[in-house]
Amino acid sequence: MSILLTGGAGYIGSHTAVELLNKGKDLVIIDDFSNSNEKALDAIKKITGKDFKFYKMDYKDREKLEKVFEENQIDAVINFAGFKAVGESVSKPIEYYTNNVSGALVLLDTMRKYNCKKFIFSSSATVYGEPERIPLTEECRVGGTTNPYGNTKLFIEQILKDIYNSDNTWDICILRYFNPVGSHESGLIGEEPQGIPNNLMPYIVRVASGKLEQLSVFGNDYETHDGTGVRDYIHVVDLAKGHVKALEKIDKEGQGIYIYNLGTGTGYSVLDMVNAFEKSTGKKVNYRITDRRPGDIAVCYADPKKAKEELGWIAEKKLEDMCKDSWNYIIKNS
Ligand code: UFG
Repeated sequence: MSILLTGGAGYIGSHTAVELLNKGKDLVIIDDFSNSNEKALDAIKKITGKDFKFYKMDYKDREKLEKVFEENQIDAVINFAGFKAVGESVSKPIEYYTNNVSGALVLLDTMRKYNCKKFIFSSSATVYGEPERIPLTEECRVGGTTNPYGNTKLFIEQILKDIYNSDNTWDICILRYFNPVGSHESGLIGEEPQGIPNNLMPYIVRVASGKLEQLSVFGNDYETHDGTGVRDYIHVVDLAKGHVKALEKIDKEGQGIYIYNLGTGTGYSVLDMVNAFEKSTGKKVNYRITDRRPGDIAVCYADPKKAKEELGWIAEKKLEDMCKDSWNYIIKNS
């Protein structure tokens, strides 16, 4: 029995592949390298000393996907093949809806055809829109997403709920990620955004390494302890381990639809992140305060209690690890 990882060469997919292989799971990975690199596959093998089956393909390609299910005994699927750049989704909505929503439907339909009904979905804290309250619990209102990327996450969550309502032999786990940062301690896999990064940590490391000149801190007039935006940054290895726990949950309990926040429960501001990065790496981060970024909210962090109680999962890595490991990856790969 194998676990299928779509987009398994990408940032979160590759880290999850490592954790699953370390737990002795058999994996089949598919990826078209549209937002990832082939070298991640060798890195996964090097880190774990284990092998897996790989198909270079677009997960929306139904014919090829059926072949994957024909050739392998797939027990569960974890879907990492979504596009994830908020800004890009605004200028390319058709591409985002096609890849994320139509892609998920092709995948789910194929799973149904082969009677594979265990599914883990990479959702996002973005589904909460403007937070109803902080910290965010899974019961908080969802909706009010402000860009096509966020809409795709929200729509797929709804599709999954509808699928479960129509056939409760599915086992579905929706994981709402907060802000993933860091990389595997080996420095062999990590985040490689194409072009100029949108997210804070990739931007910080590129300013520290001299690739970019200056960080723009988007607003210092929010109602937070220092006026800059507060988020729940979570180490990607902790996040990856959350998927292992989610898989154990749907394997053990069976037949249900579960939703979990994967966050630390602690919020840090943009300036907290800059300071922590400088302290843990000894590198200076040149920044200036600019206007707010449209669509940003002031504060967003998780209540991670449900994942602790039901999955036995908590984020263990500290802010210092997140900064050091993000930096380590850049040093080793530039
Ligand atoms: N920020 C800056 N300068 C930058 C980049 C970011 O000041 O150059 C600030 C933002 O204003 C925000 C914080 O840093 O306050 C974090 O911004 P990110 O872009 O790193 O992350 P977001 O919280 O905006 O978005 C992230 C993911 C989305 C996901 C969302 C869920 O990028 O995919 O979290 O809440 F949907």
